[in-house]
Amino acid sequence: MKRIVVTGGAGFIGSNFVRCMLATYPELHIVNFDKLTYAGNLDNLNDLDPARHMFVQGDIADKAAILKAMNGCDAIVNFAAGSHVDRSIMGADDFIDTNVTGVYNICEAARELRTPRVLLVSTDEVYGSIDEGSFTEDDPPRPGNPYSASKAGGELIALAHFNTFGTPITITRGSNTYGPYQYPEKVLPLFVTNAIDGQPLPLYSGGENNVRDWLYVEDHCRGIDLALRKGQAGQIYNIAGGNERRNIVLTRKILDLLGKSEDLIKLVKDRPGHDRRYSISATKLKALGWAPRMDWDQGMALTVQWYRDNEWWWRKIKTGEFLEYYRRQYHDR
Ligand code: NAD
Ligand code: TYD
Repeated sequence: MKRIVVTGGAGFIGSNFVRCMLATYPELHIVNFDKLTYAGNLDNLNDLDPARHMFVQGDIADKAAILKAMNGCDAIVNFAAGSHVDRSIMGADDFIDTNVTGVYNICEAARELRTPRVLLVSTDEVYGSIDEGSFTEDDPPRPGNPYSASKAGGELIALAHFNTFGTPITITRGSNTYGPYQYPEKVLPLFVTNAIDGQPLPLYSGGENNVRDWLYVEDHCRGIDLALRKGQAGQIYNIAGGNERRNIVLTRKILDLLGKSEDLIKLVKDRPGHDRRYSISATKLKALGWAPRMDWDQGMALTVQWYRDNEWWWRKIKTGEFLEYYRRQYHDR
């Protein structure tokens, strides 16, 4: 592959993926197509070589724009999405536009242009919650909130596209991802940056019961790259961190790494429809040669240190639109 289009490459995982791919494949050129919503940030890309990375501002819900960007590419990898569950509960219009219509547009453009590879980045949340054991790719989607439902909707359109037209689409479903450049609405960077400032950590429903499986962002990116190269069209590949932790354990870990008191934990009203536990098996991707490399303790220490060292990055974000969102989301909890 010489030229790939990455959509949503100015966000958290997308920007890490672009950096990782440029470092791994010296001949590769990337067109980074991103709408720059509140979560898209050119600061995430400012160290990249402009000779091999071209940024284009655009919306995947705009069919003509995505068709133009994809013309002549060897592959497209889509990260563009509304990505935060709490925001989707406040209103899901953008989630439907991007995660369903936008994905459909990518499929249609790929069909028209005969794009050789389409990789759609999705989430373990499409399976919904599981009390015991882990979901495999053969389990049906049972999404439990507007975000995960919109992701499942996009996936179903794409799989039907493969079935009907043979569009060479592969899907990955990653678990909760952590690392540098994550927008501080998600629990980990929110709690780290709040704790640095001595602000409360709003933990939903005590944090005792809810479990997430933490995947370091570089491991997620390597999994996506492998699925892009070796995955089969029409297939789904789970990417699991293998680090299931209760939210209270994650919270205490953050406070411990920062040397802060547990008095900062503020128990707040639960998220409506809160999925209790996510758990997936990555056996299928492991059979292609993938395994997570990052140990959780080490990944947490690196990540917390990154937010400590890069206040320039998150302090700019935690102003304006973010403060308004934070007030709406948390003021009456
Ligand atoms: P993010 O919110 O940090 O980034 C999303 C990016 O997409 C932003 O740069 C935004 O500007 C862009 N975007 C949004 N709508 C767009 C549109 N209509 N057209 C073009 N660009 C648009 O999200 P993230 O956490 O990096 O997630 C990336 C992908 O990975 C998403 O598809 C998400 O569903 C999936 N995923 C995320 C996680 C996680 O823990 N963060 C886990 C598994 C899967
Ligand atoms: P989040 O980072 O929003 O990811 P997701 O909901 O996609 O898994 O939340 C991770 C977990 O943390 C989830 O169980 C909800 C919980 N949480 C809180 O307790 N407080 C918060 O302020 C946020 C944002 C999340």
